[in-house]
Amino acid sequence: MAVSGGSVRSIDLFSNEVLADPYPAYRLLRDAGPAVYLERIDAWVLARDASVRTALTDWETFSSAAGIALTDGVNQALKGMVLASDPPEHDQLRAVMSERLAPRVLGGFRGSVREQADIMVRDLVYRRSFDAVDDLARAFPVAVLLDLIGLPEDGRDQVLRWADGAFNAFGPDNERLRQALPVSRHKIDYLASVVASGRLTPGSIGHGIYEAAERGEISHESCVNLLAALVDAGLDTTINAMSNVALLFSEHPEQWERLRADRTRIPAAFNEILRLETPVQAFARGVTTDYDLDGVTLPAGARALLLYGSANRDERAWTEPEKFDIGRDASQHLAFGRGIHVCAGQGLARLEAHALLSALLEHVARFETGEPERRLNNTVRGLSHLPTTVTPA
Ligand code: HEM
Repeated sequence: MAVSGGSVRSIDLFSNEVLADPYPAYRLLRDAGPAVYLERIDAWVLARDASVRTALTDWETFSSAAGIALTDGVNQALKGMVLASDPPEHDQLRAVMSERLAPRVLGGFRGSVREQADIMVRDLVYRRSFDAVDDLARAFPVAVLLDLIGLPEDGRDQVLRWADGAFNAFGPDNERLRQALPVSRHKIDYLASVVASGRLTPGSIGHGIYEAAERGEISHESCVNLLAALVDAGLDTTINAMSNVALLFSEHPEQWERLRADRTRIPAAFNEILRLETPVQAFARGVTTDYDLDGVTLPAGARALLLYGSANRDERAWTEPEKFDIGRDASQHLAFGRGIHVCAGQGLARLEAHALLSALLEHVARFETGEPERRLNNTVRGLSHLPTTVTPA
């Protein structure tokens, strides 16, 4: 086990071993208290559901502007991004974003998202064997989101590399972070050039953000940052969530049978997938004032690391948390965060996931998967490959 022989304080949350299977370490951290200081990353780790929930709903004490990443350099570079801001700046950036991702706007895309899901799944079922990460979990959100944002075709091939880089950059100063930094700079340069040359598709979400900048509601720099936030936040998250669909349902065929028998449970099943294998494992906050968290004092100026992936498996909050059960009500999970930064794109994520699950239920009777290959990332949890064979419905 990852921490055998050492104390809980010696846990290396970002070692390959723990990233591959973080759950034993998370349990030790939860049992150790409401917050545990880890010197290695100079941060107080909040691993319990109640601790993470408290921090997420108190932005004045747990500030995003004071840093959502684990290194000062990256936090400096994130200034002006919606994720890394506090009110009032946050409210203004978020309003521009939320308006474009509102249910009434997304409703207009519902038909085409469903159609794309159906075409993709039909093709994969015809092939019978495919890679559930490359051919399904990646291909689908890339096609949907980049059309929605309105990015031109050239440059799309680099987008996945950007998203991966962005999530590695939130971590500690390790090799994964160092490889991510030049990629993030390239992304911002590219998006700035697309905006400057007026190449965002008219009518797209990205073009709407550009128009808000033209009207003076936000700066042109913020416009580029919001586009980057959409690309980063909207891809790797959804991809990792979807890569778990084939894996979890091949491991639990009885749950697939259950869902096939009652499709009204699709939203509940997606919540359960997000709870059990939370795509975004953690984000940090800066503690602005001395704070008593259930008897542990977090000092002003400290960094807190909020472990969503651990909170969602906290036995204090969930019955049999390790069990995959689409019958449970998992709607209170923290996979989308909570409070003022709660995922602005969750409507789109649900739209995509529900469309994909519907198409799979229509066409697939059973999944069989080979050895999954895990992709180790400082923030997101998911797979890089999953050989999959399906039995047609
Ligand atoms: C299953 C898929 C997704 C997951 C698990 C996820 C997760 C999250 C989480 C945990 C946060 C909160 C961060 C914090 O606490 O600081 C967040 C924020 C955000 N997400 Fe998502 N996300 C997903 C999909 C998307 C999509 C599809 C988009 C947009 C296209 C999106 C856009 C955003 C934005 C813009 C924010 C920042 C909101 C703010 O700072 O006010 N996300 N997401």
